Amino acid sequence: MLGHNSFSWAIREGDRAAFFVKAKKSSATITRDRISVCGLSFSGTKLIGRPYGRHEIMGIELIVLPALPRDLMEHIKRGPQVILPWDASTIIFYADIRAGKTIIEAGSGSGSLTIALASSVRPDGRVISVDIKSSNTEIARRNVRKAGLSDRVVFHTGDVKNPQKIENLLSSHKLEGADTVVLDIPDPWKAVESVKALLKIGGVFAAYLPTMNQVERLRKEIEGWDKASSDFVDVFTMETLRREIVVRPGAVRPDYSMLGHTGYLTFARKV
Ligand SMILES: C[S@@+](CC[C@H](N)C(=O)[O-])C[C@H]1O[C@@H](n2cnc3c(N)ncnc32)[C@H](O)[C@@H]1O
Repeated sequence: MLGHNSFSWAIREGDRAAFFVKAKKSSATITRDRISVCGLSFSGTKLIGRPYGRHEIMGIELIVLPALPRDLMEHIKRGPQVILPWDASTIIFYADIRAGKTIIEAGSGSGSLTIALASSVRPDGRVISVDIKSSNTEIARRNVRKAGLSDRVVFHTGDVKNPQKIENLLSSHKLEGADTVVLDIPDPWKAVESVKALLKIGGVFAAYLPTMNQVERLRKEIEGWDKASSDFVDVFTMETLRREIVVRPGAVRPDYSMLGHTGYLTFARKV
């Protein structure tokens, strides 16, 4: 054990941990079985009960830290296209997702956004995660379980455009409407009536869409371009671009490569 201080605490069986060996990074659940991370394979009993921080395994320095939500999102098994941590973090702040809130999400997909939402509503909030395809519900459920967040998420296989089933689900959990509805489905404009039925007054509607053509159709629907009035205010669309900075002595510059596009985020508040 190298250099521990009084602020470190014990690694427990069942914890989700992030592992670092030089530039390699991974995450895994702490078990008594073998843990294989960053090219090392060792018994979890070597870590259980010892403090988080620096350890030596087979002569190699292994840093073990409690996993952050973004570690858990990075290492999920992917099915449908995922929402990445920088878009998720924008959703978390602009859609006011925090402890105690009730969030409805569709679709569950791979459960990447579900992990960010569930981490943010802990310890007493809820995420109702809806997907039309049962195979995707199962992928998301597995990833959320591996992230140790199952107690915050209720999965439902169904169409988010049919709010009745979701309303029943809310009342069976003694929840009175949603504080936020987040949609990552191809045609959210068709779900606007459902969103209205599920959201509390003042609740936030957020949608993630890969193309501007889809954004235009959604904005037409939520702002009621062909109607006298709209049930939403404070409507805006934005994009989050993440450009990493390479920092080397005497050579600090943006990375040459960058993911140029993920999705557009549209937010609105129900009146
Ligand atoms: C791109 S994926 C969502 C990915 C997810 N946000 C993540 O971060 O892992 C879109 C999902 O929406 C689901 N979907 C499409 N239309 C839907 C609908 N009307 N109701 C519920 N889910 C729907 C699809 O089955 C698919 O799993």
